Amino acid sequence: MNPAHPEQKLAARLSSVTPSVTLVISQLARRLASQGRDIINMSSGELDFDTPQHIQDSAFTAMQVGQTRYTDVGGTAELKASIIEKFARDNHLAYSAKQIIASTGAKQIIFNAFLATLDAGDEVILNAPYWVSYPDMIRLTGAEPVAVVPAPHEGFKLTPASLAAALTPHTRWLLLNSPGNPSGALYSTDELRALAEVLKDYPRVLVMSDDIYEHIVYEGEFVSFATAVPEMADRTLTVNGVSKTYAMTGWRLGFAGGPEWLIAALAMLQSQSTSCPNAIAQAAAIAALDGPQHLLAEWCHRLRRRRDSALNILRQSPDLSVETPPSAFYLFVGCEKLLGKTTPTGKTLNSDLDVAEYFLEHGGVAVVPGTAFGMAPYFRLAYSIADEDVNRACQLMVNACEALL
Ligand SMILES: Cc1ncc(COP(=O)(O)O)c(C=O)c1O
Repeated sequence: MNPAHPEQKLAARLSSVTPSVTLVISQLARRLASQGRDIINMSSGELDFDTPQHIQDSAFTAMQVGQTRYTDVGGTAELKASIIEKFARDNHLAYSAKQIIASTGAKQIIFNAFLATLDAGDEVILNAPYWVSYPDMIRLTGAEPVAVVPAPHEGFKLTPASLAAALTPHTRWLLLNSPGNPSGALYSTDELRALAEVLKDYPRVLVMSDDIYEHIVYEGEFVSFATAVPEMADRTLTVNGVSKTYAMTGWRLGFAGGPEWLIAALAMLQSQSTSCPNAIAQAAAIAALDGPQHLLAEWCHRLRRRRDSALNILRQSPDLSVETPPSAFYLFVGCEKLLGKTTPTGKTLNSDLDVAEYFLEHGGVAVVPGTAFGMAPYFRLAYSIADEDVNRACQLMVNACEALL
């Protein structure tokens, strides 16, 4: 990212963005694949399933009937109606159209929400291990991410005590992500209410509930923050989208419900940046939200089988430690016992980045080092790939552990 001419430069704000640790792994994976190596990619956060046929059909129809132009900034009235219905059906949340926005993925909503509300010196509390994009989005606004690293017995979750310790007069947001990426942790109603109790003394603090993995739950029950704590709905932004639920990551369609003033600010930013979400993806999202939902249970069933066989295989290695995550499609695996060991080529593993590089070079499996998620030494693997690849990749990692000295 260095400009060719010395007088050309990038904006100072870009210096706050940390280069991605995952880049090292994806570059190495590409290099090995280009050399003809068989690489199993467990680093990507998306389902391998096809977008269901009825959703694809609605996109074709939308194009054929001319729904190919700009729409209202925050999404069409029809899509907003489907989102309102989804929030009522799944989450018992009642929003009006003015409290709803659709955007180019949940990612755009999260970024714009920070951009609209954060100034230099503000703070956002988030729960490590966290989704890699949150801290950089926060830093780009001039604000500071405040990551709380849970103790081992806390199940990768915030507690009232750890939240209270992180709150300061500068806190603007509490960012919750349940089901969590990468941990798969799921907050219960009681846990959310206990966190809300702490927030009562901080009326300035907004709550972002990133519910993008809502429908990928195997044990326990998903509950959104505003559902658990209705008295704080007026300061909660409930973020969701079609990416993970309906295997639609590439369609780029996310949505949110929240207080009118905040939704209006998000729409203003969107109006001057992307104009509106993709019109064809909006039509597809209506079909996804209004259409049959039985596929989700089938997918969860298949994902749970993959999770369980991945766990069974990985637990054969005494060097890896992994809890059973109740939700999402990742395993966050502890690899502390591998540190200090030596690879067959004589390299000592000093960090989870070294471990990820070793798995890739020795085993041909791409995973993401925990450092990228603010918690080390761990690695994240996504089991949202074909069953046989999940099994083969996990066995290759166990073999790779055994090959260490
Ligand atoms: C926790 C979390 N939030 C949000 C997103 C973004 O989703 P979208 O595809 O809707 O932008 C992701 C994608 O990986 C995610 O893991």
